[in-house]
Amino acid sequence: MSHLSPSQTSHFPLYLAPMEDVTDPAFRMLCKRFGADRVYTEFVNADALVRDVASTTRKLQISEDERPVAIQIYGREAESMVQAAKIVEQAQPDFIDINFGCPVKKVAGKGAGAGLLRDVPKMLQITKAVVKAVQLPVTVKTRLGWNDEEKIIVDLAEALQDCGIKELAIHGRTRSQMYRGEADWELIGQVKNNPRMHIPIIGNGDVTTPERAYECFQKYNVDAIMIGRATFGNPWIFEDIRHYLETHEHYPERSMRWCMDILKEHVEASIQWIGDERKGIVHSRRHFANSPVLKGLFDFKQTRIDLLRADSKQEVFQIMDFIVDKWG
Ligand SMILES: Cc1cc2nc3c(=O)[nH]c(=O)nc-3n(C[C@H](O)[C@H](O)[C@H](O)COP(=O)(O)O)c2cc1C
Repeated sequence: MSHLSPSQTSHFPLYLAPMEDVTDPAFRMLCKRFGADRVYTEFVNADALVRDVASTTRKLQISEDERPVAIQIYGREAESMVQAAKIVEQAQPDFIDINFGCPVKKVAGKGAGAGLLRDVPKMLQITKAVVKAVQLPVTVKTRLGWNDEEKIIVDLAEALQDCGIKELAIHGRTRSQMYRGEADWELIGQVKNNPRMHIPIIGNGDVTTPERAYECFQKYNVDAIMIGRATFGNPWIFEDIRHYLETHEHYPERSMRWCMDILKEHVEASIQWIGDERKGIVHSRRHFANSPVLKGLFDFKQTRIDLLRADSKQEVFQIMDFIVDKWG
């Protein structure tokens, strides 16, 4: 693709990346409202699902309003992954996504998530078994490889495709990188432009601005872009990027009042989802701490500390109103 025209932009979907402790129903709905073309649940542990652990089965809660939605599972054995996929199927998501990308020790170190990048035969065995076990389309999200010496994604993508997955999302980092360094989109582009690949390729990693999204579509030809951390305290990023892709202009600047109202709404929704005021606020803190609208404000330090310490809704909302008065 050499050029994006407005009529083409609907063909360039923007997805909310799966994120543990972040992409719960409250946040997914908010991102959906601002135009995320697909949302993913947090990753769901297959063994815990099979054991019917309440905090895990709760993660299967999806609503009609958020479709299309993918439920993501992870695990290290084909048997439990198949059982988990069958349980997930009953929740009727639009996709079942398999996580082969999580780098954290308690997951990858135990041979699940990105750990399977070190045991490709097993990864393929799991993938084939899950594809065979369910009627729903199965997708995979993974990384470039285990480390710099083992960037296997080009061959791996073909092998995963042969297992019958319907789409592949690639985070442009290795397991060893964790979240360090820059995502390598060149390799994502190589997968996409491999003539033997025919399933859609979703690119992921470090897309934080409309310009970068535009560049990734144009230069690497991916079928969709998945956005993770840049959505923190910024669910309207989907609208910003879409607007830019369609018009080549930036979305008109949003007022501080408007942004704080959305963040307040998110706090309310989190409290409701979690069912506890204090826990709901603690859960939302990541969004206050990282919201781009609260970055770089002059003399903001103490207010930021106050905001991140507040543990009642009344206090949080008062501080947000103060922010609007002082910096709006
Ligand atoms: C807090 C957090 C939780 C994450 N949880 C998951 C997860 O459950 N499943 C998954 O596939 N990736 C997970 N990721 C990785 C993201 O989906 C994404 O691949 C990564 O953040 C890179 O994209 P970004 O640069 O747009 O953030 C997580 C990332 C973060 C920061």
